[in-house]
Amino acid sequence: MSRKILSKLNPFRRKDRGEQAALMSAISDPLLAVDIHNAPLFYNSKFNLLVDDKEIGKRRLWKVIVDHEVVQGYQAALSEGRSTSIKAVQFHTATGTMFFLVTISPLRRSNGKIYGALGVFHDVTELKQAEQMRIDFVANVSHELRTPLTSIKGYTDTLMEDFVAGRPMEEKFIHAIARNTSRLMNLVEDLLDLSSLEAGSVLQKIELETEDITNRIVRQLQSSSGGKKHTVVFQIDSSVVFADPRRLEQVLVNLLDNAFKYTPPGGQITIKWSAPNQDSVELRISDKGPGIPLEHQARLFERFYRVDKARSRESGGTGLGLAIVKHIMQRHGGSVWIESTPGGGATFVCQFPMK
Ligand SMILES: Nc1ncnc2c1ncn2[C@@H]1O[C@H](COP(=O)(O)OP(=O)(O)O)[C@@H](O)[C@H]1O
Ligand SMILES: [Mg+2]
Repeated sequence: MSRKILSKLNPFRRKDRGEQAALMSAISDPLLAVDIHNAPLFYNSKFNLLVDDKEIGKRRLWKVIVDHEVVQGYQAALSEGRSTSIKAVQFHTATGTMFFLVTISPLRRSNGKIYGALGVFHDVTELKQAEQMRIDFVANVSHELRTPLTSIKGYTDTLMEDFVAGRPMEEKFIHAIARNTSRLMNLVEDLLDLSSLEAGSVLQKIELETEDITNRIVRQLQSSSGGKKHTVVFQIDSSVVFADPRRLEQVLVNLLDNAFKYTPPGGQITIKWSAPNQDSVELRISDKGPGIPLEHQARLFERFYRVDKARSRESGGTGLGLAIVKHIMQRHGGSVWIESTPGGGATFVCQFPMK
């Protein structure tokens, strides 16, 4: 703790100051105490980091802290001896916006007289971010579920009217209902999958033949993707991988489904299995599609994150494929990342631990 901050430790006797200073700097939460005139009495180095102002000691409280509610909290402690807690107070720091739970209490002398107020700023930024993610997730899920449901309901209602009125059934309505129903089913299945992965479902890791499993998934996807023809190139430099069979299939299906979906017909897709070092086995799936712009890459593995929202939904995806891949790789003790330059296609790399 600097000399200047130490010199602010007025309320303590000189011989106690060293001890108090050490104590304060050991506290991980920023704290600030003011006297009855709203002048800073003491603060720790964490508070100094939070409010990057070299002159804190010379200012009044409202110049140091702009949040009105916090200033009022200090006033309540000073004038009425009341303690307050204020949730999610925002601070704009050099590293970005942070959120704090601020607890303010009066400081009293042994005779009970109030001589100041102490505020403790507890960092709740991560909690706040998690809360925001949960809110966004529920909003996204509801939106994704409603779209096919609205469609199914609309076509069913029309068919019902036709039936009642004795008109002939429209075949294309039935197809639309079937298409939207399977989209809804896929979405619900993906959501359930994600939650079982998050709940920590146990993996059954065994030694698997990379060539067999890859061939099977490619054939399965090629037969279901209709007329769209792609050249698939295999390169098997590592014949085995230690993984959960069902989960590895999911990784392959999700990544290859994207590669087929986002590569124009006739384009080439390369699947390569290798062991880049003694500790890991690597799967690389490269396509010749549009690639993924750098600004989207960091968020690509988030649930429902899509580069081109309209196009991706149209092609029937759930927006959860890559989030599932990421979870599966993490559960295997491995990782997944993307290597892509716009226009140069995309390469998804999955790294599995050797054992
Ligand atoms: N091989 C790829 N080439 C280009 N963009 C891709 C590729 N794979 C994934 N993306 C982008 O990442 C997004 C998320 O993928 P994913 O989680 O599988 O959802 P979905 O395929 O259902 O849209 C896609 O919407 C797309 O914008
Ligand atoms: Mg997908």
